[in-house]
Amino acid sequence: MAHVPTSEDQALPSGASLRREGAGSQCTAWRVTVLTLFPEMFPGPLGRSLTGQALTAGLWSLDTVPIRAFGIGRHRAVDDSPAGGGAGMVMRPDVIAAAVDQARTTSADAPVIYLSPRGAPFTQSMASEFARGPGLTLLAGRFEGIDERVITARNLIEVSIGDYVLSGGELAAMVVVDACLRLIPGVLGAAASLEEESFEGGLLEYPQFTKPRTWEGLPTPDVLQSGDHAKIATWRRAESVRLTTERRPDLLKPRKR
Ligand SMILES: C[S@@+](CC[C@H](N)C(=O)[O-])C[C@H]1O[C@@H](n2cnc3c(N)ncnc32)[C@H](O)[C@@H]1O
Repeated sequence: MAHVPTSEDQALPSGASLRREGAGSQCTAWRVTVLTLFPEMFPGPLGRSLTGQALTAGLWSLDTVPIRAFGIGRHRAVDDSPAGGGAGMVMRPDVIAAAVDQARTTSADAPVIYLSPRGAPFTQSMASEFARGPGLTLLAGRFEGIDERVITARNLIEVSIGDYVLSGGELAAMVVVDACLRLIPGVLGAAASLEEESFEGGLLEYPQFTKPRTWEGLPTPDVLQSGDHAKIATWRRAESVRLTTERRPDLLKPRKR
């Protein structure tokens, strides 16, 4: 999608451009701003299918802030060697702070998330909470991550998408945005029933079947052909509990508030 120049472009350092995707100029749109060294990675998969249609329809908007534009010196350096020595490079706090401050000028009320393997695990309830808000500003790290001081100084919320290490935060940002977008009214249309999905109500979803009625000798459960909606609901609930007990007993434990 083409870059649509906005008045916000003027606030960036010379040579930098804040890129907006879709028709998201409406102030009611759920607003996503991604701070990244690789703005060209966006919208990526988010520009396809239902989330892509919702972007075009203006249900959400996407801005990318190119971190490189805030880099230091002729080479626009964004990283430096770790204090105390060691392998790899660390993203500079002054560079990250400048990019965050820029994002806050246009999206002041959105929480600023730093995607980080050390962060709080991203969950469905977090997605619901974010989806109810004005949008998200997401900082995608690279190298060994970002200088610790900027996390504190700019009140960044660290969020992890799982117990593994990615090369960069861009894919993690897309995961978070996708999970939130599905919960924005109108994004999915009638395509899905959100209430019965995994993690809604603290259970995994029951097994799903479709046609043909028998495939490779395997029939669909009789109850699903019965037309008795109460019986079907009871069966599905029992299957949800069975699967959750087998696979994710941790979900059944009472949560500490
Ligand atoms: C190579 S990783 C840095 C890992 C860091 N040195 C550590 O051990 O915690 C580079 C960037 O990828 C992103 N990242 C990696 N794994 C992630 C995860 N599980 N969840 C969210 N972001 C992740 C973060 O933005 C991070 O700054």
